[in-house]
Amino acid sequence: MTELETEDVVIALAVGRDRLSRFLMSYKFAIQEIETKLSILRQEFQQVHRYNPIEHVSSRLKDPQQMIAKARRRGCGPDEDSIRENIFDIAGVRVVCSFISDAYRLQQMLCSQDDVELLKLKDYIKNPKPSGYRSLHAIVAVPVFLSDRRIVVPVEIQFRTIAQDFWASLEHKIFYKYDKHVPGQLNSELIQAAETAAELDAKMERLAQELQPQFAESPTPVSEESVRTFLRFIGGNGAGPG
Ligand code: GTP
Ligand code: MG
Repeated sequence: MTELETEDVVIALAVGRDRLSRFLMSYKFAIQEIETKLSILRQEFQQVHRYNPIEHVSSRLKDPQQMIAKARRRGCGPDEDSIRENIFDIAGVRVVCSFISDAYRLQQMLCSQDDVELLKLKDYIKNPKPSGYRSLHAIVAVPVFLSDRRIVVPVEIQFRTIAQDFWASLEHKIFYKYDKHVPGQLNSELIQAAETAAELDAKMERLAQELQPQFAESPTPVSEESVRTFLRFIGGNGAGPG
Protein backbone atom coordinates (compact mmCIF):
# COMPACT_ATOMS: atom_id res chain seq x y z
CA MET A 1 0.00 0.00 0.00
CA THR A 2 1.38 3.45 -0.92
CA GLU A 3 1.65 6.19 1.68
CA LEU A 4 -1.32 7.98 0.04
CA GLU A 5 -3.49 4.85 0.20
CA THR A 6 -2.63 4.31 3.87
CA GLU A 7 -3.68 7.91 4.51
CA ASP A 8 -7.02 7.24 2.74
CA VAL A 9 -7.67 4.22 4.96
CA VAL A 10 -6.88 6.25 8.08
CA ILE A 11 -9.27 9.01 6.96
CA ALA A 12 -12.00 6.48 6.06
CA LEU A 13 -11.66 4.85 9.48
CA ALA A 14 -11.88 8.21 11.25
CA VAL A 15 -15.02 9.14 9.28
CA GLY A 16 -16.51 5.71 9.95
CA ARG A 17 -15.78 5.94 13.67
CA ASP A 18 -17.42 9.36 13.85
CA ARG A 19 -20.54 8.18 11.96
CA LEU A 20 -20.84 5.07 14.12
CA SER A 21 -20.52 6.96 17.36
CA ARG A 22 -23.08 9.59 16.24
CA PHE A 23 -25.44 6.79 15.22
CA LEU A 24 -25.09 4.97 18.55
CA MET A 25 -25.37 8.24 20.45
CA SER A 26 -28.94 8.72 19.20
CA TYR A 27 -29.81 5.35 20.81
CA LYS A 28 -28.10 6.36 24.03
CA PHE A 29 -30.27 9.50 24.11
CA ALA A 30 -33.42 7.46 23.42
CA ILE A 31 -32.53 5.23 26.40
CA GLN A 32 -32.13 8.35 28.54
CA GLU A 33 -35.56 9.63 27.42
CA ILE A 34 -37.20 6.32 28.41
CA GLU A 35 -35.30 6.17 31.72
CA THR A 36 -36.47 9.70 32.57
CA LYS A 37 -40.07 8.76 31.77
CA LEU A 38 -39.78 5.68 34.00
CA SER A 39 -38.25 7.69 36.80
CA ILE A 40 -41.10 10.21 36.63
CA LEU A 41 -43.70 7.42 36.61
CA ARG A 42 -42.01 5.76 39.57
CA GLN A 43 -41.93 8.97 41.64
CA GLU A 44 -45.41 10.11 40.72
CA PHE A 45 -46.91 6.66 41.27
CA GLN A 46 -45.26 6.54 44.67
CA GLN A 47 -46.69 9.95 45.54
CA VAL A 48 -50.24 9.23 44.36
CA HIS A 49 -50.60 5.54 45.25
CA ARG A 50 -48.07 5.32 48.11
CA TYR A 51 -46.49 2.41 46.29
CA ASN A 52 -43.45 1.89 44.05
CA PRO A 53 -44.22 -0.48 41.15
CA ILE A 54 -40.61 -0.60 39.85
CA GLU A 55 -37.96 -2.78 41.49
CA HIS A 56 -35.17 -1.72 39.17
CA VAL A 57 -34.39 -0.51 35.66
CA SER A 58 -31.36 -1.42 33.56
CA SER A 59 -30.36 -0.59 30.04
CA ARG A 60 -27.84 -1.52 27.41
CA LEU A 61 -26.71 -0.49 23.93
CA LYS A 62 -26.21 -3.36 21.51
CA ASP A 63 -22.61 -4.15 20.73
CA PRO A 64 -21.81 -2.63 17.26
CA GLN A 65 -20.43 -5.94 15.94
CA GLN A 66 -23.64 -7.75 16.95
CA MET A 67 -25.69 -4.93 15.45
CA ILE A 68 -23.93 -5.26 12.09
CA ALA A 69 -24.17 -9.07 12.18
CA LYS A 70 -27.94 -8.80 12.80
CA ALA A 71 -28.30 -6.21 9.99
CA ARG A 72 -26.55 -8.64 7.63
CA ARG A 73 -28.82 -11.52 8.74
CA ARG A 74 -31.88 -9.35 8.15
CA GLY A 75 -30.53 -8.35 4.74
CA CYS A 76 -30.78 -4.61 5.40
CA GLY A 77 -28.95 -2.07 3.28
CA PRO A 78 -25.54 -0.82 4.40
CA ASP A 79 -26.72 2.57 5.68
CA GLU A 80 -27.86 4.06 8.97
CA ASP A 81 -31.50 4.62 7.92
CA SER A 82 -31.90 1.03 6.86
CA ILE A 83 -30.44 -0.23 10.16
CA ARG A 84 -32.74 2.13 12.12
CA GLU A 85 -35.80 0.87 10.23
CA ASN A 86 -35.00 -2.83 10.61
CA ILE A 87 -33.20 -3.40 13.90
CA PHE A 88 -35.28 -2.53 16.94
CA ASP A 89 -33.14 -3.71 19.82
CA ILE A 90 -30.08 -1.48 19.48
CA ALA A 91 -31.39 0.40 22.52
CA GLY A 92 -32.71 -1.91 25.24
CA VAL A 93 -34.33 -1.05 28.56
CA ARG A 94 -35.41 -3.63 31.13
CA VAL A 95 -37.98 -2.78 33.79
CA VAL A 96 -38.20 -5.25 36.66
CA CYS A 97 -41.39 -5.11 38.73
CA SER A 98 -42.57 -6.94 41.83
CA PHE A 99 -45.84 -8.15 40.33
CA ILE A 100 -47.20 -9.13 36.92
CA SER A 101 -49.97 -6.52 37.20
CA ASP A 102 -47.28 -3.84 37.65
CA ALA A 103 -45.49 -4.96 34.47
CA TYR A 104 -48.72 -4.52 32.46
CA ARG A 105 -49.63 -1.27 34.21
CA LEU A 106 -46.23 0.30 33.57
CA GLN A 107 -46.22 -0.78 29.94
CA GLN A 108 -49.64 0.82 29.45
CA MET A 109 -48.73 4.02 31.29
CA LEU A 110 -45.52 4.45 29.31
CA CYS A 111 -46.91 3.50 25.91
CA SER A 112 -49.95 5.76 26.22
CA GLN A 113 -47.78 8.88 26.47
CA ASP A 114 -48.20 11.29 23.53
CA ASP A 115 -44.61 11.13 22.36
CA VAL A 116 -44.23 7.36 22.68
CA GLU A 117 -45.34 5.33 19.69
CA LEU A 118 -45.93 1.65 20.32
CA LEU A 119 -44.55 -0.17 17.27
CA LYS A 120 -45.01 -3.72 18.51
CA LEU A 121 -46.11 -5.50 21.67
CA LYS A 122 -44.97 -9.08 22.30
CA ASP A 123 -46.69 -10.65 25.29
CA TYR A 124 -44.53 -13.56 26.36
CA ILE A 125 -46.29 -13.55 29.74
CA LYS A 126 -49.62 -14.65 28.27
CA ASN A 127 -47.82 -16.65 25.57
CA PRO A 128 -44.53 -17.93 27.02
CA LYS A 129 -41.78 -19.03 24.63
CA PRO A 130 -41.14 -22.80 24.31
CA SER A 131 -38.02 -22.24 26.45
CA GLY A 132 -40.30 -21.07 29.30
CA TYR A 133 -39.29 -17.43 28.84
CA ARG A 134 -41.83 -14.92 30.15
CA SER A 135 -41.72 -11.13 29.76
CA LEU A 136 -43.72 -8.34 28.16
CA HIS A 137 -41.81 -6.68 25.30
CA ALA A 138 -42.79 -3.29 23.91
CA ILE A 139 -40.96 -1.91 20.91
CA VAL A 140 -41.50 1.82 20.97
CA ALA A 141 -40.29 4.83 18.99
CA VAL A 142 -39.39 8.02 20.85
CA PRO A 143 -38.33 11.38 19.44
CA VAL A 144 -34.82 12.62 20.20
CA PHE A 145 -34.05 16.29 19.63
CA LEU A 146 -30.54 16.90 18.30
CA SER A 147 -28.89 20.29 17.63
CA ASP A 148 -30.09 20.36 14.03
CA ARG A 149 -32.92 17.85 13.74
CA ARG A 150 -35.44 15.57 15.38
CA ILE A 151 -35.07 11.86 14.92
CA VAL A 152 -37.36 9.05 15.97
CA VAL A 153 -35.49 6.20 17.61
CA PRO A 154 -36.74 2.67 18.39
CA VAL A 155 -36.20 1.17 21.83
CA GLU A 156 -36.99 -2.36 23.01
CA ILE A 157 -38.44 -2.29 26.52
CA GLN A 158 -38.76 -5.54 28.46
CA PHE A 159 -41.15 -5.51 31.42
CA ARG A 160 -40.88 -8.48 33.74
CA THR A 161 -41.20 -9.60 37.35
CA ILE A 162 -38.31 -10.34 39.72
CA ALA A 163 -39.03 -14.07 39.36
CA GLN A 164 -39.08 -13.85 35.55
CA ASP A 165 -35.82 -11.87 35.62
CA PHE A 166 -34.17 -14.41 37.95
CA TRP A 167 -35.16 -17.24 35.62
CA ALA A 168 -34.12 -15.40 32.40
CA SER A 169 -30.68 -14.53 33.72
CA LEU A 170 -29.96 -18.11 34.80
CA GLU A 171 -31.32 -19.55 31.54
CA HIS A 172 -29.19 -17.08 29.56
CA LYS A 173 -26.03 -18.18 31.40
CA ILE A 174 -26.81 -21.88 30.87
CA PHE A 175 -27.69 -21.26 27.20
CA TYR A 176 -24.29 -19.71 26.56
CA LYS A 177 -22.38 -22.14 28.76
CA TYR A 178 -23.63 -24.96 26.49
CA ASP A 179 -23.11 -22.82 23.37
CA LYS A 180 -26.87 -22.78 22.63
CA HIS A 181 -27.17 -26.62 22.82
CA VAL A 182 -28.57 -27.25 26.29
CA PRO A 183 -28.87 -30.99 27.12
CA GLY A 184 -32.47 -32.29 27.10
CA GLN A 185 -32.70 -33.03 30.85
CA LEU A 186 -31.43 -29.57 31.81
CA ASN A 187 -33.81 -28.02 29.30
CA SER A 188 -36.85 -29.72 30.83
CA GLU A 189 -35.70 -28.68 34.30
CA LEU A 190 -35.48 -25.09 33.06
CA ILE A 191 -39.02 -25.29 31.67
CA GLN A 192 -40.20 -26.66 35.03
CA ALA A 193 -38.36 -23.87 36.87
CA ALA A 194 -40.11 -21.30 34.65
CA GLU A 195 -43.47 -22.81 35.61
CA THR A 196 -42.54 -22.74 39.30
CA ALA A 197 -41.57 -19.06 38.92
CA ALA A 198 -44.94 -18.37 37.24
CA GLU A 199 -46.76 -20.09 40.13
CA LEU A 200 -44.81 -17.96 42.60
CA ASP A 201 -45.75 -14.82 40.67
CA ALA A 202 -49.43 -15.79 40.74
CA LYS A 203 -49.25 -16.47 44.50
CA MET A 204 -47.41 -13.20 45.22
CA GLU A 205 -50.00 -11.29 43.19
CA ARG A 206 -52.81 -12.75 45.36
CA LEU A 207 -50.94 -12.01 48.59
CA ALA A 208 -50.17 -8.46 47.46
CA GLN A 209 -53.88 -7.83 46.94
CA GLU A 210 -54.61 -9.10 50.48
CA LEU A 211 -51.90 -6.98 52.01
CA GLN A 212 -52.15 -3.87 49.85
CA PRO A 213 -52.10 -1.34 52.73
CA GLN A 214 -48.92 -2.84 54.22
CA PHE A 215 -47.18 -2.36 50.87
CA ALA A 216 -47.63 1.37 51.18
CA GLU A 217 -44.44 3.37 51.41
CA SER A 218 -44.19 6.98 52.61
CA PRO A 219 -44.66 9.76 50.10
CA THR A 220 -42.08 12.52 49.67
CA PRO A 221 -41.92 14.19 53.11
CA VAL A 222 -43.04 17.83 53.27
CA SER A 223 -43.04 19.93 56.41
CA GLU A 224 -46.29 21.00 58.06
CA GLU A 225 -45.22 24.62 57.55
CA SER A 226 -44.92 24.04 53.76
CA VAL A 227 -48.39 22.49 53.67
CA ARG A 228 -49.90 25.48 55.53
CA THR A 229 -48.17 27.96 53.20
CA PHE A 230 -49.35 25.98 50.18
CA LEU A 231 -52.96 25.84 51.41
CA ARG A 232 -52.95 29.61 52.11
CA PHE A 233 -51.55 30.20 48.62
CA ILE A 234 -54.19 28.13 46.84
CA GLY A 235 -56.92 29.62 49.07
CA GLY A 236 -57.55 26.34 50.91
CA ASN A 237 -58.26 25.95 54.59
CA GLY A 238 -54.74 26.45 55.89
CA ALA A 239 -56.09 27.37 59.32
CA GLY A 240 -53.60 28.67 61.82
CA PRO A 241 -51.62 31.79 62.58
CA GLY A 242 -50.99 33.91 59.48
P1 GTP B 1 -33.49 -11.31 19.07
O1 GTP B 1 -32.87 -11.43 17.72
O2 GTP B 1 -32.85 -12.24 20.10
O3 GTP B 1 -33.53 -9.91 19.54
O4 GTP B 1 -34.96 -11.90 18.93
P2 GTP B 1 -36.26 -11.19 18.37
O5 GTP B 1 -35.93 -9.92 17.66
O6 GTP B 1 -37.11 -12.22 17.67
O7 GTP B 1 -36.99 -10.77 19.69
P3 GTP B 1 -37.51 -11.65 20.91
O8 GTP B 1 -38.71 -10.95 21.37
O9 GTP B 1 -37.63 -13.11 20.59
O10 GTP B 1 -36.33 -11.55 21.99
C1 GTP B 1 -35.72 -10.36 22.31
C2 GTP B 1 -34.98 -10.48 23.63
O11 GTP B 1 -35.76 -11.13 24.63
C3 GTP B 1 -33.70 -11.25 23.62
O12 GTP B 1 -32.62 -10.49 23.18
C4 GTP B 1 -33.55 -11.63 25.10
O13 GTP B 1 -33.12 -10.51 25.87
C5 GTP B 1 -34.97 -11.92 25.49
N1 GTP B 1 -35.32 -13.33 25.27
C6 GTP B 1 -36.11 -13.82 24.30
N2 GTP B 1 -36.24 -15.16 24.41
C7 GTP B 1 -35.51 -15.53 25.49
C8 GTP B 1 -35.24 -16.80 26.12
O14 GTP B 1 -35.71 -17.87 25.73
N3 GTP B 1 -34.42 -16.77 27.23
C9 GTP B 1 -33.89 -15.62 27.73
N4 GTP B 1 -33.09 -15.69 28.80
N5 GTP B 1 -34.13 -14.41 27.15
C10 GTP B 1 -34.92 -14.37 26.05
MG1 MG C 1 -32.41 -8.89 20.92
